[in-house]
Amino acid sequence: MAKRPEAPGTSTQAVHAGQRDRSKSHALTPPIHQTSTFWFRDSAELREFAEGRLDRDEYGRYSNPSWRVVQDKLSELEGAEETVLFSSGMAAATSTFLALLPRGGHIVVTNDCYRRTRQFIQQYLSKLDVTATVIEPADTAALKDALQDDTVFFFTESPTNPYLRVIDLPEAARICHERGVKVIIDGTFATPINHRPLEQGADLVIHSATKYLGGHNDLIAGTISGSAEEIAPVREACGVLGGILDPHASYLLLRGMKTLSLRMERHNANGLAVARWLEGQPKVRKVWYPGLESHPDHEVASRLMQGFAGVVTFEIDGDLEDTIRFTDACRLPYIAPSLGGVESLVEMPVLMSYWDYPAEERQAYGITDSLVRLACGIEDVDDLIADLSQAL
Ligand SMILES: Cc1ncc(COP(=O)(O)O)c(C=O)c1O
Repeated sequence: MAKRPEAPGTSTQAVHAGQRDRSKSHALTPPIHQTSTFWFRDSAELREFAEGRLDRDEYGRYSNPSWRVVQDKLSELEGAEETVLFSSGMAAATSTFLALLPRGGHIVVTNDCYRRTRQFIQQYLSKLDVTATVIEPADTAALKDALQDDTVFFFTESPTNPYLRVIDLPEAARICHERGVKVIIDGTFATPINHRPLEQGADLVIHSATKYLGGHNDLIAGTISGSAEEIAPVREACGVLGGILDPHASYLLLRGMKTLSLRMERHNANGLAVARWLEGQPKVRKVWYPGLESHPDHEVASRLMQGFAGVVTFEIDGDLEDTIRFTDACRLPYIAPSLGGVESLVEMPVLMSYWDYPAEERQAYGITDSLVRLACGIEDVDDLIADLSQAL
């Protein structure tokens, strides 16, 4: 997709958006507002604020200038009017779902997704009698069939976890909007550098900012972006449910985001090179990466995305023990959950995210004993490939 003509480039946005003229001290780097509350000069000022005539901060669960600069930066990158920050990606998703869903509402979700999102839907939303229809990620015919009169939204990751399925978003949005259904995309695996869902029909985009946005494996955060109208109930829910970001973590997120575009270039390059290399290895049975011609959504991904990021999922040609031997032999990637940071991480979903699932359920989600998820960091690709080669 070409650069939006009216917008500066994403590297310029990542560095400058939201930042200028914020601080009375003229500090170039926005300061950390490490405060729980904000004082009023007198009751007249308080009244002006309460009556909506004065735009300022009041209490740290509702707003903080350290959030605002990050929110504005991400809004510009996403092409959104507004963004809300949360204490985690899960806080962003759960607060959004609770804000938007009435008791007994219906949603459509995809089966390949972060397990805790699935757990929230199954274990907690069911208490509000919310029902969910689960479809295959790329199956737009199934999406059409799944929509009901009481469907509130379609929620999916894109790319999904761990199979990196990419949704034909313009088509999915067309189907949903015809029935008055909102589309919410978890864009964690892409970032606005690779994919801007709001420009392709999504109503809201969520991120686990813990991953690429923060980018340094040193914070937990979440975001949601969209139009002012769509965001208003979510912002209110954030202030009530209280899953807010600490001002210091907000500063770390701001610092990380300044290099987002630069880091994504390397993640994209490393992911593609490693995926291509893995595909040629006799000890690797199968590789999933949207940038490979062999991926089921390669055409859709190439049409909608500008890069495919650093996560590569593959199957070792062997059993559980062979796969454990491979991951244990990796010297560069750490064995750890998460992705999107500068350090490469490797995990076997069967031992990590899905370790407590019964075998039949794991199979239903396609989690095999020899599945590996590699999150390529920003190391030199030759070093990464040399390490994977010795481990294989
Ligand atoms: C796609 C996706 N969405 C959301 C989350 C949850 O984010 P967090 O860990 O920041 O709560 C994760 C976490 O791994 C994820 O992979």
